[in-house]
Amino acid sequence: MDKTTRPLAVIAAFAGSLAIGLLVTLWLLGGLGTSIAPPAAIGGPFRLTDQAGQTVTEKNLLGRPSIIFFGFTHCPDVCPTALFEMSEVLRAMGPDADKLNAYFVSVDPERDTQAAMKDYISSFDPRLKGLTGSPDDIAKMISAYRVYAKKIPLKDGDYTMDHTALIYLMDAKGHFVRPFNLKRTPEEAAAELKRYL
Ligand code: NI
Repeated sequence: MDKTTRPLAVIAAFAGSLAIGLLVTLWLLGGLGTSIAPPAAIGGPFRLTDQAGQTVTEKNLLGRPSIIFFGFTHCPDVCPTALFEMSEVLRAMGPDADKLNAYFVSVDPERDTQAAMKDYISSFDPRLKGLTGSPDDIAKMISAYRVYAKKIPLKDGDYTMDHTALIYLMDAKGHFVRPFNLKRTPEEAAAELKRYL
């Protein structure tokens, strides 16, 4: 080897080892990628009470699919609209609606007592359950579900809540599937839900 080819040989060997290193790295990442849980897990343990006083926890999500919506009973428009649309989907499901959970979870535990929730939720499909709890218990669930909820003071000393308006679709293993789309006919939405029964 002369003086000009020697450095080239060194560079070639170095490049070769880099390429092999890169392949090994990709192979390792690929192998790991298939063995770890999907990122951005949504959901987790919670303990709340429905409008009838029954305790509801993450264990109630097992064995049946669930649709979960977060809001508050003083909400002027978004929540009542979503709850009405959820009620329409439950109606469209017929008797199959008994095989899933439909939850409305309060992000305003200060005002949404069990009694307030019972009164409010009675306007919607009876299979829709309204969940509330202590501010700590609500905060825990909101955090686990990555829900955005913020108190917005009003001029009269009252307040409203700015909040996530997604419907969470959870499968029968209690795993988040995707946001559930209500902007279609109740029959179309019901057909999608039936696939998870
Ligand atoms: Ni709302």
